[in-house]
Amino acid sequence: MERYIVAGGNPLSGTLAVQGAKNSALPIIAACILSPGRTVLHNVPQLTDIDVMLEILRTVGAKVVWQDQSTLSIDSSSLDNWRIPESLMRRMRSSFFVVGPLLSRFGQVRVTYPGGCAIGTRSIDLHLKGLEKLGVEIKPTQSGHIDFRGDNLRGASIDLDIPSVGATENIMMAAVTAQGTTVIRNPAREPEIVDLGNYLQKLGAQISGAGTDKIVIQGVTQLGESNHTIIPDRIVAGTLILAAAITGGEIVLTNVIPGHLSAVIAKLAEMGVSVDAGSDTLRVVAQDGLNPVDKIITAPYPGFPTDMQAQFMAALASARGVSVIVEKIFDGRFKHVNELRRMGANISVDERTAIVRGVDSLSGASVEASDLRAGAALVLAALGSKGITTVNGVWHIDRGYVALEKQLSSLGAKITREKGD
Ligand code: EPZ
Repeated sequence: MERYIVAGGNPLSGTLAVQGAKNSALPIIAACILSPGRTVLHNVPQLTDIDVMLEILRTVGAKVVWQDQSTLSIDSSSLDNWRIPESLMRRMRSSFFVVGPLLSRFGQVRVTYPGGCAIGTRSIDLHLKGLEKLGVEIKPTQSGHIDFRGDNLRGASIDLDIPSVGATENIMMAAVTAQGTTVIRNPAREPEIVDLGNYLQKLGAQISGAGTDKIVIQGVTQLGESNHTIIPDRIVAGTLILAAAITGGEIVLTNVIPGHLSAVIAKLAEMGVSVDAGSDTLRVVAQDGLNPVDKIITAPYPGFPTDMQAQFMAALASARGVSVIVEKIFDGRFKHVNELRRMGANISVDERTAIVRGVDSLSGASVEASDLRAGAALVLAALGSKGITTVNGVWHIDRGYVALEKQLSSLGAKITREKGD
């Protein structure tokens, strides 16, 4: 197992382009199943989760070629399989995003329950209820699989109890060739939903309202082929901004969409970190030391993103005062707390609320990544701490960050990757 060795205390400086968004590329790669032709995707990040989704596409018969390190060519003209092996389904939660497109393409799918980050119960009831509304028959099998059948999907009015990102995406992809009109109320409004909607429109789908509180889809009978550039990754951008903040550095990020980070930039201003936005750049200037924040409450977009919660906790652990963090999206997303405590953090947790009492400085330790963003948070804590930290479980981080050690080293961080025992 590989691990990071991080020496803290170096203020970051320099300029870095932000990678393409994992959580946009994953549903859009799944949506390629809808096209009877070829799709070229630009700005795709080379990540292990992307590799898994490409493996799933190959399993259903797509021809997938990396044209260069961030450009994918996906030919889905001759798909011939709608069964996804459990080994692939278990690798990540977003494997479930192929159900909608496969139903639209074949009228049937056989999958198992998805796997993914251990950040709480991650049910799929909203996916299933939405698909049933479109006329899909869902049957669990004896062998732990789920069979979906839907030869003639029909448009429906669907109200989501929770603005689930994955459920919104699955329903969108199933509805684009359903007969009639589908209305999704209380959908997720993340930028990744908008990006998927833009790609589907390029294929010929009649879809409007992505990013608002109502998405309307008129079913079409025929889709085409297209090419598309994936939006920048707002969570990777937020993570890099915090790396500068926690080390008292000054960096410039390029290939970002500042509007996607409004809630994050507002919190950083409270902490005394100034972030100047250009059209597609962000300049981060951190002062020496961070102020605490009254409260961070995670919420669906455009609220504060749950995917930035662990990283902010790492920064606030050495702020000049007490901060409160409330995790309202997932019921198990504080696994980084114990690891931060090993570095000297003073954090108390009561159910979904964490009280973070800032200490002068964290100290190096040996810590364990438990999931993607918790792992990134531990790297941030290490950068801002005194001494040397070993972060074990780098494979979690590789799911969402392209060679994070290279990205941070290019900004002056002292971080190396080595084979663990
Ligand atoms: C997406 O996960 C992201 N993943 C997650 O990012 C992100 O944390 C999450 O959205 C919230 O923003 C991808 O896009 C691949 P949800 P998803 O459905 O779709 C409950 C990362 O670090 N829920 O919006 O799985 C669920 O339990 C990852 O990049 C149901 O109850 O999230 C959770 O409490 C981690 N029933 C809440 O909704 C359902 O059918 C939000 O989940 C579906 C979800």
